[in-house]
Order: sequence, then structure tokens, then C-alpha cells
Amino acid sequence: MHFRIEQAAAHAGQEVEIRGWLYNKRSSGKIHFLLIRDGSGILQAVVAKQDVSAEVFASAETLTQESSLIVRGMLREDRRAPGGYELSVADLTVVQQAAPYPITPKEHGVEFLMDHRHLWLRSRRQHALMRIRAEVMRGCTDFLDAQGFLRVDTPILTPASVEGTTTLFETTYFDLGRAYLAQSGQLYNEAAAAAFGRVYCFGPTFRAEKSKTRRHLIEFWMLEPEAAFMTLDEYMSLAEEMVSAVIARVLERRRTELEVLERDLSRLEAVRPPFPRISYDEAIQRLNAAGHPTRWGDDFGGDEETVVSSAFDRPVFVHRYPAPIKAFYMQPDPDRPEVVLGADLLAPEGYGEIIGGGQRIHDAELLERRLEEHGLPKDVYRWYVDLRRYGSVPHSGFGIGIERTVAWIAGIEHVREAIPFPRLLNRLYP
Ligand code: 4AD
Ligand code: MG
Repeated sequence: MHFRIEQAAAHAGQEVEIRGWLYNKRSSGKIHFLLIRDGSGILQAVVAKQDVSAEVFASAETLTQESSLIVRGMLREDRRAPGGYELSVADLTVVQQAAPYPITPKEHGVEFLMDHRHLWLRSRRQHALMRIRAEVMRGCTDFLDAQGFLRVDTPILTPASVEGTTTLFETTYFDLGRAYLAQSGQLYNEAAAAAFGRVYCFGPTFRAEKSKTRRHLIEFWMLEPEAAFMTLDEYMSLAEEMVSAVIARVLERRRTELEVLERDLSRLEAVRPPFPRISYDEAIQRLNAAGHPTRWGDDFGGDEETVVSSAFDRPVFVHRYPAPIKAFYMQPDPDRPEVVLGADLLAPEGYGEIIGGGQRIHDAELLERRLEEHGLPKDVYRWYVDLRRYGSVPHSGFGIGIERTVAWIAGIEHVREAIPFPRLLNRLYP
């Protein structure tokens, strides 16, 4: 492959060619300073009148922001140049002279930037975010692969709900009636866990949720590990190890990007296992003590999560929620059947729930009763109940929301910037 700017250090003193776009330009009579980006980084290229043909100098003169170009020349180390390297241009080809670029260095409103998301992705801030996102995803999968989890992906078009029928996206499916976009891969993951022991699925999930908060997307990516014989406590240990490993990895490999985002690194450095684990009961007490009246049985929204998590410097697990506020598949606590063996992980600094999970019902009869209580159609869950008939074992799993995790690690205000093309209640474009 040809030279990429991120490899500049290995090519100092060589003739190189860069293919990219004009990020910014500064000129002074006999010299043009071009900031060129190629997707891997930004490099300063100097076009000096005395070193190039009159045509090349003229085309550098008229080059507009985001014009695509190819430059060739000598790369040298230069401590004064941004990034520490500079290219002395010998030749320049304009691939396309860009029309006036809508995103300029001046401040734009968020809606304007969202309307231009296809171009906004070219900015330094978005580069930092997308690199952190990729690192988080790779951090999770590398961690799980090393623990012997097998990636077994699950379908997106499904006949049944996982997380309640009120947030289903519906479509028609030929002669078979209705199909829904997956809210989670969990149910299929449970079949895969009974087949392979330890598995995970990873893909986009969908919630037709009329929420317009800074934590909600309509389409988001979720990574879901599931393991046979895993208990609630073991799930929490696995999740805290994974989250800590991912943070350590981002701190190590994406420090520059965190700095671009002006992230307070000390907040991330505090994230080490073990994470505190408190019961739902204790969370209720803490809420009331903090002057936030909450009754036992209430579900938590963003405000409650923020109050509960603000007492801790690292993520906190809240476990054993009342059964009625959780999904149909949650295993009841044998000592206290009114609560379930589920736990959510709440991120610090007000980022709220990033993980939901727990132990699943492994008894066929109880599961059938729950399906009935939740008014769910038995026929489409037949295969799921079957799993409880052929070598059923206690098992657990969880789902980590990638965008919420990225928003927290990057320290950004809203999940919409943590995904390349966000799908929001009021946005389907671009
Ligand atoms: O808590 P949730 O709904 O759990 C499940 O879907 C389980 N079936 C997962 C499992 O056990 N395999 O979603 C899990 C996580 C949340 O903690 C959150 O991080 C993210 O998915 N999430 C969302 N992220 C962005 N926008 C939304 N609308 C989200 N809904 C959930
Ligand atoms: Mg949840």
C-alpha cells in the first residue's frame, strides 16, 4: 500500500506520495502551507514558488477546502510543523476541485452539522470519536475471544420481541405475516450458548422508542455475551473485567484522540475492578436519602441513574430489581422471588446504564408462565422454551450498548456523535 500519513515517522527523508484532501490552507505570497488529510492523519505540505512549476503553484493557490489531491515530494522531520513532519512539494495533482464546503472553521449548530453528517465525519473531532468507537468494539471482542467466547451472530429479522412489545419495529414478511427488527440477539444467543458454552453476538439492534434523550438511539450497536452455567455474580465479574480492559486499552492506544476531545483522563484511570455492587433496595434508599423520592417498584430513568451513580468514581452494578419492571426471561431470586437475578451497570459522570443483563429462567414451566403473564404468543417462542427441555442449565448474559459506552469514555454530551450515522426519533437523514 502507498504511504499513509500515520506512518510518517517510518518515511522521513524519503520521497512520498500522499493521496487525500485539503484540510486547510495558509498562504503568504511565495509559499502555500497545505494541511492535507488522508484519513489516517494530517500532514503539512509546503508548496514553494521556487520549487514547483508555475501551474502547480497556481493550482495550490486556488485549491479549495476539501478538494481531493495527490502530492509528491520529500518528507522531512520538522519540529515546528503540526504532527512533527513536513512535506516539501515537488508535484501536485488536483483530483477534484471542491465546491464551497459547507462546514467552515466557524461554529455551526448541531442540527446543521447533523444534516451534514456525511461531511462532518471528516473533522478532527469526529475522527477521534470514530477511532475510539472502533477501539472500544475491538477491545470488547478481543477480550471475549481471549476468554474463549465464540462469536455467533444472530438474525435481525425475527418473529418475536425480546425487550417488550412496545418498542418493536414492524415489517411484513412475505406470506408469513409480521416480522420485527431485533431489539437484542439474546434469545438466539441462549441457543448458541447451549451449543458452544460461551458465545457473543454483535450487531445493530433496534428500538422504536419515543425517547428523545441524550442516551437514546433508535438503532444502536450492542455486543452480547452469553454463557452456560454462568451465575449473576460471574456475569458481573466478567462485565467489570471487560469494561476495565476496554478502558485501559483506549487509554493506551487512543490517548491522542482522548486529548483531542479534552477528556479528563483521571476519571478513566479510576476505572478498575472490582466495581461496587448494590441492590435495587439499597439504590432506593440512596435515592430517598439524596432527596429524590422514589418508591420500591419504580423503574429508574436517567435522573435516578445519575443520582445513584454519582456516589461512585467508577461504574456501579445495581442488582435484584423487582420482577415487574424487568423482562420476562429474568430468573427470580430463589430467596426472594419478587426480585430477579438481573443487574444493570451504571456508568459514572451521569452517563447512565451502559449494560443490562443477568441470569435467565432455565425452567420450562416457569418460562411458559412468564410468557403468558406478559401476554406473549407461545408459538413463536416454542424453540426458546425447547432450550429448557434439552439439557437446560442455569445461564447468564448481558448486553453492552456501544454508543453509550463510547459517549462515556469520550466524555461527549450525546450518543448521536458516537455512531457514524445516528438514527434518532426525529432524524433519518442522511
Ligand atoms: O438493557 P437492555 O434493553 O438489555 C437487553 O437488550 C438484553 N437483552 C441484553 C442481554 O442481556 N443480552 O439493553 C442493553 C444495553 C443498555 O444497557 C444500553 O447500553 C443499550 O443496550 N441500549 C441503548 N443504547 C442506545 N439507545 C437505546 N435506545 C438503547 N437501549 C438500550
Ligand atoms: Mg436495560
